[in-house]
Amino acid sequence: MSPAHAYTVDPKRLEGVTDQPLFKAAGRVADRMGVRAFAIGGHVRDLLLGRPCKDIDIVCEGDGIAFAEAVAKELDAGPVHVFKNFGTAMFTLRQAQGDMEQIEFVGARKESYSRNSRKPEVAPGTISDDQQRRDFTINALAISLNAPDRGQLVDPFNGVEDLRKGIIRTPLGPDVTFSDDPLRMLRAIRFATQLGFFIDVPTFEAIQRNAERLDIISAERIHTELNKIILAPVPSVGFKLLLNSGLLVRFFPEMVDLLGAEEKAGIGHKDNFYHTIQVLDNVAAHSDDLWLRWAAVLHDIAKPRTKRFEPGRGWTFHGHEDKGARMVPGIFRRLKLPLDEKMKFVQKLVALHLRPIALTKEEVTDSAVRRLLFDAGEAIDALMILCKADITSKNEAKKKRYLANYAVVMQKLREVEEKDRVRNFQPPITGEDIMRAFNITPCKAIGDIKTVIKDAILDGKIHNDRQQAWQLMVEEGRKLGLTLSPGMEGPTKA
Ligand code: CTP
Repeated sequence: MSPAHAYTVDPKRLEGVTDQPLFKAAGRVADRMGVRAFAIGGHVRDLLLGRPCKDIDIVCEGDGIAFAEAVAKELDAGPVHVFKNFGTAMFTLRQAQGDMEQIEFVGARKESYSRNSRKPEVAPGTISDDQQRRDFTINALAISLNAPDRGQLVDPFNGVEDLRKGIIRTPLGPDVTFSDDPLRMLRAIRFATQLGFFIDVPTFEAIQRNAERLDIISAERIHTELNKIILAPVPSVGFKLLLNSGLLVRFFPEMVDLLGAEEKAGIGHKDNFYHTIQVLDNVAAHSDDLWLRWAAVLHDIAKPRTKRFEPGRGWTFHGHEDKGARMVPGIFRRLKLPLDEKMKFVQKLVALHLRPIALTKEEVTDSAVRRLLFDAGEAIDALMILCKADITSKNEAKKKRYLANYAVVMQKLREVEEKDRVRNFQPPITGEDIMRAFNITPCKAIGDIKTVIKDAILDGKIHNDRQQAWQLMVEEGRKLGLTLSPGMEGPTKA
């Protein structure tokens, strides 16, 4: 079987690794202390795959904290942060290229490795005890740091073979590995998606069997893995696995509700689950922005709740963009995603996702384009990426038409923005101006005048300029029965 994934595994990439100052120092200290020490886990996996490595994990047969402190001293590094409850310690080190690298130390343990599980186990063990309690064979690879066998790979579960074949498999029976830490079920799917690997059948069947156990895992840990899936090159792979494993429904039932295509009177609608993940892949091909990708995930989330069959018209989803935008905070809150401007950005994109194409249904007027620019503001480029990604029709003629419409809107957007600069619209007249001009205190008239000015600019009746806006303010104030203060006929300095 030829590997479907894009990585080649080359053990030569490990040559010389243990000559790095950190590993050399750790080896020296381990020899002096009479303990065995190893580089282990994701770092070794990524070295073999030639992926950029982030943090480094070092495990020793003995007291991980004392070992970390001794290595930090040897390297003149520090401070060492100790997590007593978990029996781990870490410090940061500056790499040759100047980047900071986190080095985490742990004593080999017999029981579950996970430092995040609810009751961390710290029973000391050997390197092989430790390796068998890790999540996957490809994450259980270790490199010896001690002098006699420095640089030797310790691979009791054929992790290198699994890396070559592109297989995610647990070292022990999967039910045991997953019951140690149910988050690993999600991690299996995350690694399969990031690396383009296949989840071994018994491992996948165990995920299906144990899916409910994900319920004990915190929303933060779940969304960390979910975000990594969303940020993968082809995120739809992960969502299909999440759906088929039974994990998705545990934490994201609204997305599962998108599944299925109903038919009435011979008229069907598209399956919105598969459409959504296709849109996500399309966005992923153009942007690494996590929140834009989230907008793709959520753009049609309210379709099941707004779906109607209207005789003569077929399936409709009226208002799904607004209802969808209103669903975003609830979903973000439950998943403990940030409730700040990132969420607002996602909401905005969901709310506006139909606007660019809807624009083309009528003639594309400057005023409609100006309003879109005004409503989208800085999110306009992201909105246009989402909007283009949303064109997933299999009907080539339809697709061609939509893409042509899209191109027209893009062109208009550029022209109007160049002319009128509404993207970062700042009202040319402030509430302060209005209060001073008519010598009034805060009241409803101020908001009304501001709205008239804004609408006049967006409709192209006046230019986005202080002189013309001032003129309009004076007229509107008079209409409202306000008296202009002396000397306020023309604009004062902004
Ligand atoms: N690990 C585990 N079970 C978990 C989490 C982690 O067995 N639930 C082990 C694995 O050996 C893993 C190592 O701890 O390789 C480090 O974990 P982590 O830093 O979370 O992941 P990485 O494998 O390094 O991958 P990434 O950096 O992509 O998150």
